[in-house]
Amino acid sequence: MSHSPAFTPGALLPGRRAIITGGAAGIGAAVARAFAAHGADVLVVDVDTADPLDVTSTAGGSITLVDHDIRDPDIPAALLDHRPDILVNNVGHYLRPPHPFAENDKDLWTDLHEINFGHVLRVTHALLPGMTERGRGGAIVNLTTVEAHRAIPGHSVYSAYKAALMQFTRSLAAEVGPSGIRVNAVAPDLIETPQVPYADIVPADDVPLWPTWSPLGGPGRPEDVAGAALFLASDLSRFVTGGTIHVDGGTHCSGGWVPRASGGWTNRPRNP
Ligand SMILES: NC(=O)c1ccc[n+]([C@@H]2O[C@H](COP(=O)([O-])OP(=O)(O)OC[C@H]3O[C@@H](n4cnc5c(N)ncnc54)[C@H](O)[C@@H]3O)[C@@H](O)[C@H]2O)c1
Repeated sequence: MSHSPAFTPGALLPGRRAIITGGAAGIGAAVARAFAAHGADVLVVDVDTADPLDVTSTAGGSITLVDHDIRDPDIPAALLDHRPDILVNNVGHYLRPPHPFAENDKDLWTDLHEINFGHVLRVTHALLPGMTERGRGGAIVNLTTVEAHRAIPGHSVYSAYKAALMQFTRSLAAEVGPSGIRVNAVAPDLIETPQVPYADIVPADDVPLWPTWSPLGGPGRPEDVAGAALFLASDLSRFVTGGTIHVDGGTHCSGGWVPRASGGWTNRPRNP
């Protein structure tokens, strides 16, 4: 085993090649920028490639956008040709407002499967053999959610597919670990993105309540998630696999407990 230190100051991903699905906006864009800033050549796969992503770095990284719907069963040659060391399966969505399961349109289940789980299987299946054959090791990072770990009423099928992704992460980690490929998850909550635009959906009167909604308050930024993804993609986490980093301000660890505005905590909130 190498006795070189896991961390030396400087670029964390020099010479690495990464693919990020849904990397043109939100969390994926922050991950793309962080990876490129640390020297990676990043291929972003997105349905919206109108705006280029800048790279602000002297580390030699780059970002290239490929226009592609990740639900499409065909894998574009550009993905295979990129020969990635790192894959971030980032696309995911709850698709509909909260709705009782008993009233679900069954087509919704297929749609939720395709946007949260099906593409992860397909893309990983297509890219993993190359990662293994090249023998350079590698890292796969899957974006799950706090709701893979706790309930979300009105989104039971979404949370079930995200939990499936979490468990896929663990089992695949065990399977490919001997090839030097690590597989981990990041489980966000409360991150300001186009999918969850808290600045628009939280009424102005409620904004002062943020400190009561999680131990660290919020909202979090896409860059907060990018930090965790960068750690999991780099050699800093070279002995970490099958795990989940919760980037949620503490909503997962605190379960149903919320801070009271008046101080202290309650798990029976009523005007906390
Ligand atoms: N924002 C949060 O607080 C939060 C919470 C829990 C989980 N997550 C998870 O984090 C991930 C990223 O979330 P986000 O909030 O940044 O999402 P977002 O919707 O804001 O951004 C998603 C990006 O993916 C692209 N995209 C959407 N569908 C696509 C498709 N079919 N093919 C290719 N590209 C597609 C979009 O154009 C966009 O650039 C998702 O898996 C989501 O479930 C986010």
